[in-house]
Amino acid sequence: MPTRRALARRLGVVEDFQNPSPALEQYATSAEVAASLVHVADQRGDLVDDDGGATVLDLGTGTGMLALAAALRGPRRVVGVDVDPAPLRTARENAARVGATTDVEWVVGDATDLPLAFDDRVVVLSNPPFGAQDGNEHADRAFLDQVRDVANVSYTVHNAGSEEFVRAYAADADATVTDAFAVELDVDNQFDFHDHDTAAIDAEAYRIEWT
Ligand SMILES: C[S@@+](CC[C@H](N)C(=O)[O-])C[C@H]1O[C@@H](n2cnc3c(N)ncnc32)[C@H](O)[C@@H]1O
Repeated sequence: MPTRRALARRLGVVEDFQNPSPALEQYATSAEVAASLVHVADQRGDLVDDDGGATVLDLGTGTGMLALAAALRGPRRVVGVDVDPAPLRTARENAARVGATTDVEWVVGDATDLPLAFDDRVVVLSNPPFGAQDGNEHADRAFLDQVRDVANVSYTVHNAGSEEFVRAYAADADATVTDAFAVELDVDNQFDFHDHDTAAIDAEAYRIEWT
């Protein structure tokens, strides 16, 4: 298995959003964060197993960063879903740049009301909009509602201070939070709540087993 660092380097060619929408919280998950989550998923055997592997589903895929990180580790199928078709064009170009072994299916759709059904094991990767800046606290809840319905295992990114919310949500769903990581997101100044060109904001990632 290649190292996490090698995976992050390979993802360094992924292009950012071309004309990002603040309302949709369109900032890319960094190559480092994507590599960290996918490396853990691979080490855990979540991506490839003796039964032929999982479908990896990236909800709110944007530039495709998380989907492409997974695709470089050879799962059976990878699907990236975003409500906005514009970043999916960038995601397609990014797939060619990255040269992943598994093709990614790019789907325009609402991740909170998925236009897809799955009959195999599903691993969700997602850095959803948080909603914290526009007073819509826990906009990520609607994503979790969909994750709960489709995922066997998920890796989701949430804003700092979400641990109680995520653990309570999982407990209510009889799911188990198995891993919690601190991660840093690089958000640039198009979002008017930041003063600097790029701000590193603290965030949290969780691995949840749903079945
Ligand atoms: C924080 S960004 C994550 C981007 C992605 N992980 C990347 O690295 O480019 C959130 C993404 O969720 C998408 N999004 C927001 N609401 C959505 C919805 N209801 N359904 C699907 N995608 C949505 C946005 O368009 C945006 O691409």
